[in-house]
Amino acid sequence: MRRVVEVALGARSYPITIAAGLLDDADAIRACVGGRHVLVVSNEVVAPLLLDKLRAALADRAVTCVVLPDGEVQKSLAGADRLFAALARAGASRDATVIALGGGVVGDLAGFAAALWMRGVPFVQIPTSLLAMVDSSVGGKTAVNLSQGKNLVGAFHQPRAVLIDPLVLATLPKRELRAGLAEVVKYGAIGDAAFFSWLEHHAEALLTLRPDSTAEAIERSVRHKAGVVARDEREDGERALLNFGHTFGHAIEALGAYRGLNHGEAVAVGMTLAAELSARIGMATSAEHDRLNDLLARLELPTRVPHGYAATQLLDAMRLDKKALSGELRLILWRGIGQAEVVGGLADARILETLRAGGAA
Ligand code: NAD
Ligand code: GLY
Repeated sequence: MRRVVEVALGARSYPITIAAGLLDDADAIRACVGGRHVLVVSNEVVAPLLLDKLRAALADRAVTCVVLPDGEVQKSLAGADRLFAALARAGASRDATVIALGGGVVGDLAGFAAALWMRGVPFVQIPTSLLAMVDSSVGGKTAVNLSQGKNLVGAFHQPRAVLIDPLVLATLPKRELRAGLAEVVKYGAIGDAAFFSWLEHHAEALLTLRPDSTAEAIERSVRHKAGVVARDEREDGERALLNFGHTFGHAIEALGAYRGLNHGEAVAVGMTLAAELSARIGMATSAEHDRLNDLLARLELPTRVPHGYAATQLLDAMRLDKKALSGELRLILWRGIGQAEVVGGLADARILETLRAGGAA
């Protein structure tokens, strides 16, 4: 079964196609590539698994492949420079297409290069991690990291198409699968109570990658994100809700020097902290918080701040998050499952007591 979700952005609209075996469909891949030159960006983990299929599908094009080492460190200006050098060597002009074949790291970097090469060339996302399928491949945020912080240099550059083949998740490490599931839960938590209930009924099926449940979870997630992006592409309003749990989560990642909890795990803890804070200020009941905790725990995600992290240090790190507008901390909280809101003007004491209740020292 082929599922197609449209990101409606006028002339820049694009389809997200979800189908088991899509990467074996050479016609579907070729249809996304207009010109002669193609730069495929992948990494040393994903390329041995999937690059041959893509090369075979694009046998009639001038294909250049850059296979990067694995890891977030590749999402850098140096990484982008490597892609620009490959495009220049290939003689790629404005009709070149950049294809990202990998997780969010490859997708963000390849998209960044596509946004800048000759002031912007077409770009296709083939996400291979669950997180990239349900979040980073959709919506056109591209970026690289600086030593001063994550995603500080970037551009909005929408892909021409997103091709999702859920079968590729079979090789994804379980920890990465769970990280992606945290972002799936986020969509239910912020705006879709029916999807949240569905997730409660399908948690085990998702952990074991049952094909029908996995495809449905991906479709419902990207449908939610596509709607938000269509209404608020540049994050002037509603798109900020997608950061539910992220300001807490980014602080947890930063305190662990990006070697502790991974992004999805930190977001899982962050979402429970946001729910806890919402209950403390009377926005929501603690029963809602308990429901979120239970679902995350069933998905084998952490729900407590790692041992030894100080609440005061976490609050300092939260202030550095780039989502903190001109020094004022604005958090995404909720009125209960499916009802997220941006909240500013929160007292430090409330945030500190929430962090301590969630396990911080
Ligand atoms: P990742 O790209 O590092 O992938 C996670 C791990 O899984 C890597 O080791 C990767 O090599 C491996 N992997 C990927 N697909 C695989 C497969 N099919 N089989 C086996 N191994 C596979 O990390 P991620 O979680 O996919 O993405 C995180 C990145 O995404 C971060 O840089 C984050 O900032 C970015 N991000 C961007 C957006 C956005 O809107 N642009 C949104 C969320 C996250
Ligand atoms: N990952 C948040 C966004 O795309 O806006």
